Amino acid sequence: HQATLTLDPAFKVAPVRRRTFGTFVEHLGRCVYTGIYEPDHPTADDDGFRADVLALTRELGVSTVRYPGGNFVSGYRWEDGVGPRSERPRRLDLAWHSTETNEVGVDEFVRWCRKAGVEPMMAVNLGTRGIEAALDLLEYCNHPSGTTLSDLRVANGSKDPHGIAMWCLGNEMDGPWQTGHKTAREYGRLAAETARAMRMVDPSLELVACGSSSSSMPTFGAWEAEVLEEAYDLVDYISCHAYYEEKDGDLGSFLACSTDMEYFIASVVATADHVGARLKSRKRIDISFDEWNIWYQSRFRDDGTPAGWPVAPRLLEDHYHLADAVAFGGLLITLLRNSDRVTAASLAQLVNVIAPIMTEPGGRAWKQTTFHPFAQASRLAAGDVLRVEPVSPVYETARHGEVPLLHAVATHAERGTTVFAVNRSTDAPLSLEIDARALGGVRVVEATTLTHEDVHARNTADDPDRVAPRANADVEQDPLRVLLPPVSWNVIRLA
Ligand code: AHR
Repeated sequence: HQATLTLDPAFKVAPVRRRTFGTFVEHLGRCVYTGIYEPDHPTADDDGFRADVLALTRELGVSTVRYPGGNFVSGYRWEDGVGPRSERPRRLDLAWHSTETNEVGVDEFVRWCRKAGVEPMMAVNLGTRGIEAALDLLEYCNHPSGTTLSDLRVANGSKDPHGIAMWCLGNEMDGPWQTGHKTAREYGRLAAETARAMRMVDPSLELVACGSSSSSMPTFGAWEAEVLEEAYDLVDYISCHAYYEEKDGDLGSFLACSTDMEYFIASVVATADHVGARLKSRKRIDISFDEWNIWYQSRFRDDGTPAGWPVAPRLLEDHYHLADAVAFGGLLITLLRNSDRVTAASLAQLVNVIAPIMTEPGGRAWKQTTFHPFAQASRLAAGDVLRVEPVSPVYETARHGEVPLLHAVATHAERGTTVFAVNRSTDAPLSLEIDARALGGVRVVEATTLTHEDVHARNTADDPDRVAPRANADVEQDPLRVLLPPVSWNVIRLA
């Protein structure tokens, strides 16, 4: 197979948004406990944070981290997680049928963020709670001092305000599984009034209204329209959540799952702009794609709910193979290609729970296959996203119809240009010719590929580098040509 793409720095989509490389830490399974926090671990620091996980978080190149949920937030009382640990209550977590010990709360999380060099993104509970609790949390976190709540934060050891800029107004309120699930009108009104009140404290906050939990929700489209009719002037973002998995052994459809993400983004942009037009508003609502990943939800549905109410059980610990990482890379490419409207995103999640980083309690931390596309894109995507308009052979899929074999995007900065490309073919390499004449005399300075002869090859704690990017020697300089192996994620640097 042969494909081409053209690089021209004149064809800019938008700047690369650092917030595209956000992730998510939820009080779910072992994401917090024995994930980021494990005071007895040999690498634990004075705060009980695992230094090995902090190092991998930095290597992953994470920008923002959403917290504390997820479905968890819709039953959460943030006050439980502050103050002396010995006095913190233990509670039932209805979302994950677990016991929450509250050993980690907002102050610890923000301290962890500072150590990891990431920006916290906070979600408020609009399931069982509402405006007052959201305002209290905001005052506790962001008000400097001189009020009961801000002084409580100071007394709890955080003298400086947490300075959290981005706030999610609830989580997946369209989902019947959500504690305090609402109709679009009910939620839209509550989101609008919560936003209005939060802006009275600080007008500069960046606020995210809940969009749809997937493009297949029965309310998809109508939900976004009704919520934005209520909250358009008061919020900055509408969220999208999407998870994909290989179903019935249909690898071809799975590798094309970014087709659904493209449709999702285009539909939400159109819906938001339509509401804006009807409101005669020139303001534009952006997308916060604040949950995305590969997740084998079908397996979770079969054996998801833990027996009893355990503390930090092993939940949603998907173990990713090569093909998962390639599909995942395709989703990243789609997020980057849409950087004009998707200006924030969060990979769900960071550690242990459908995560790029895994840990063993008391033991190692290691990289899943999906770690690599994220880390490479975060490190190398810089400057502007370019429109590349690939010309590629297509293949037929059961789920998405005809899909190009090549899925690609490029970014361009003074220090160089990088192409990120996926070959979706399950059986043949793809010869990619890059027309870079507009860049003037550039060469391929580095080409790597993430692939494996076994598409189901996985990394493990004992063999953590089985699937990792390797140098791709199949490169020609004139004309510029790179051979992309079947089922592969590729990074090509030009300078
Ligand atoms: O990320 C796992 C869960 O997926 C989140 O808690 C929820 O928001 C979504 O359904």
